[in-house]
Amino acid sequence: MASSGILVFIFTVLCICAVKSFVKVECKTKNVGHYGQQSLLECVVKTGESVIDPTIRTVAWKKLTSPEDEGDLVLGFQKGKLDEPKRGYMFAEPSWDEKNMNVSLLINNTAVAHNGDYECMVITDSGDHTSVTTLKVQARYSISTVHFTPEKVDPNSDSTLICKSREGYPKGTLHWFVEENNDWTKSSEMEVTQSDDGLFQLTSRLPLFQQSTFQKYTCVVLNASGSKEDEFTFEMPAPLEGVPDPRSPETSKVVAPLVVIGSLIIGLLCALLLYRRRSQSHVIRDGKIHSHHCCAGLNVAFENCEQVQTAV
Ligand SMILES: *[C@@H]1O[C@H](CO)[C@@H](O)[C@H](O)[C@H]1NC(C)=O
Ligand SMILES: *[C@@H]1O[C@H](CO)[C@@H](O)[C@H](O)[C@H]1NC(C)=O
Ligand SMILES: *[C@@H]1O[C@H](CO)[C@@H](O)[C@H](O)[C@H]1NC(C)=O
Repeated sequence: MASSGILVFIFTVLCICAVKSFVKVECKTKNVGHYGQQSLLECVVKTGESVIDPTIRTVAWKKLTSPEDEGDLVLGFQKGKLDEPKRGYMFAEPSWDEKNMNVSLLINNTAVAHNGDYECMVITDSGDHTSVTTLKVQARYSISTVHFTPEKVDPNSDSTLICKSREGYPKGTLHWFVEENNDWTKSSEMEVTQSDDGLFQLTSRLPLFQQSTFQKYTCVVLNASGSKEDEFTFEMPAPLEGVPDPRSPETSKVVAPLVVIGSLIIGLLCALLLYRRRSQSHVIRDGKIHSHHCCAGLNVAFENCEQVQTAV
């Protein structure tokens, strides 16, 4: 009886001591990092109240490539000094030392390759503990262009509207809205390309069939969690009212004789000018011969038609 009482007593004391002398690495489970900026992986060492003035002996920050693997040491502290850290990794506390329980990791210039799980192991003079935390890298999308192929909008032939995003991360989506709010995304096709640094570029093609063009087409880019990051509205160049379509046979009947008459007048003017300038052409200035060939092309503005020839 007495012996079992003693056992219970010892067990209770051990439990209380364990509770009061724990060492725990507490990390924020999810940290968000922005591409090209600094990222913070927040971890602090918590100790029980019976642990007085703890000292950290070892810190090992590792990047895990899979849940089972050993990991790749990116920042280490042991025997009172820092190991040579991997480029761009440092303690978040600027003058961190073994008395500082904030062992947060700072990544200087966040890249897509930094995305993933990290393990933080801490050994103190009163115990040790290891935690895992995750960095989610994000790069914001924006729309770089919305344009047509073929280049010129021709209502009489099929064409394609193309929307391109700038690079972002993780994989987002492009959507099309026609006029005010008609979702036409289903009619489009999206292509994703990944650059060497891991960022995604999105391209969406929306085919337009002849005679079925609307006034406004909006391309919207959503990030991986479905939030809008950018949009661009493409307005169809409207055919000007009152101005006849230059392609229609009616106008060409009127335009053709006008062009002929116009050319004749310009030709005459040129001939006149050439005649008047003949005496002053081939003027030698700055060691160069400047000669006038105004009529080489009819649409060359008269004042710009001076051609420079180097003197022999
Ligand atoms: C740890 O240090 C970093 C950098 O100084 C700071 O941003 C963070 O808030 C600190 N965390 C805690 C829990 O004190
Ligand atoms: C952080 O990154 C910037 C730009 O990438 C670089 O100029 C700077 O030297 C880096 N700082 C440290 C402490 O590595
Ligand atoms: C998407 O954007 C929202 C709002 O800006 C942001 O809160 C969220 O973290 C972003 N998600 C991703 C995966 O980029």
